[in-house]
Amino acid sequence: MAAHLMGFGRYAPERIITNDDWAARVDTSDEWITQRTGIKRRRFADDDESTMTMAVAAAEHALKDADLVAGDIDEIIVATDTPEMMTPDTAALVQHQLGCGNIPTYDLGGSGCAGFVQALDVAKARITVAPKTVLVIGVELISRMISLDDRATAVLFGDAAGAVVAGPSAARAEVLEVISGTDGAHAEILTLAAGGTRNPFNSGSLESGDYNRLVMDGRKVFVEAVRRMSEASVEVLDRIGKTTSDVALVIPHQANKRIIDAVRKQLGLADERVYVNVHEYGNTGSATVPFALSEAVDEGRIGPGDLVLLTAFGAGFHWAAAAIQF
Ligand code: UT7
Repeated sequence: MAAHLMGFGRYAPERIITNDDWAARVDTSDEWITQRTGIKRRRFADDDESTMTMAVAAAEHALKDADLVAGDIDEIIVATDTPEMMTPDTAALVQHQLGCGNIPTYDLGGSGCAGFVQALDVAKARITVAPKTVLVIGVELISRMISLDDRATAVLFGDAAGAVVAGPSAARAEVLEVISGTDGAHAEILTLAAGGTRNPFNSGSLESGDYNRLVMDGRKVFVEAVRRMSEASVEVLDRIGKTTSDVALVIPHQANKRIIDAVRKQLGLADERVYVNVHEYGNTGSATVPFALSEAVDEGRIGPGDLVLLTAFGAGFHWAAAAIQF
């Protein structure tokens, strides 16, 4: 049984934070952020929004796009590193809010920005074993989890959600192949430790500021992100007997325009064959790929017959790539 993508959805909060807004808060500038990352603005959730509400908004968009209702969904996977709570998972809250039946749900957490494509790998396997309709969501509400006074990390991120409906119906696009990989030797290079058992949340972490400290060696992450996203792209195409010249559009994880450009060059592709929206939304973690996929479909950047490549990289380090035939 093949796995297909039947609908695409996305959600971004209304509130726009520009680089100049950041320059008014921490020691940074529009020039630095633009040159180093390509980011011009990002969205931050309002107080009445949460990881769950954003995930539900993207899911409803994807369901509408698939011409389905909540009762048609058999399973939900939510990829997020910024869950609504430690327990239970965000997926259970999404299930109830959408009004699905008592279907199984689970979060895929801690994979950073690779989470959605990894979740798609799981969904493909689940559909292949037994035909079912799986809602796969990537969502992050990062602005509420990291220090907004740390210029080295805060300016990079934004809040958003993206979703796909995956299932057996061959109407729109087939998930031909997905690959995932992990190198835990690099786990300490990108961490948000507080709140876990190594560094439980307590008054000490509040005093030290550790409760929201995202620790990242940006240069090492940069180098590995380029290498792993490029290699994963070639590997997934190789598995289906294709090369980059067969690809109509690459949708890479949107962390930094310089990383995207380096991957594009490694793959030998022209500008117009790589989708970029990092200037508008910043790095929205596991939401970047499904968000960009939904946007690219709506903008007409993807049409019938197109082979689309998804590639992502995140904390762990984890990476994943998918080949989608429209
Ligand atoms: O999705 C996975 C999550 N993370 C990533 O993908 C991040 C990957 N890494 C990157 O995107 C880049 O490494 C960064 C954008 C984080 C940094 O760019 P860089 O060219 O690697 O800069 P750098 O780390 O070498 O820092 C250069 C300087 C430092 O000052 P000194 O030590 O040279 O005096 C930083 O303190 O820039 C300084 N700096 C800033 N200056 C102004 C760091 N953040 C800022 C800032 N504004 N916001």
